[in-house]
Amino acid sequence: MKHSLRILPRETKTRIYRKPTGPIVVSGDVLLTDENGEQLKHSEKFSLCGCGKSNNLPFCDGNHKKQPPAANQ
Ligand code: FES
Repeated sequence: MKHSLRILPRETKTRIYRKPTGPIVVSGDVLLTDENGEQLKHSEKFSLCGCGKSNNLPFCDGNHKKQPPAANQ
């Protein structure tokens, strides 16, 4: 009996959700660009800033954690 292996493609659906504290988490196959269409490098899973306080926009750099709790809602 001959056995064969198949390698199935990974799930490539994109998942995007916003954490209650601000970051917008993106995972999956996405092309992220700036307003001029220039591609922005990112990892397979990354977070966009949803609070506007990042020093590395459009990415979250954790600055939302420095906000008072009421500002995160
Ligand atoms: S959401 Fe993290 S710095 Fe804005």
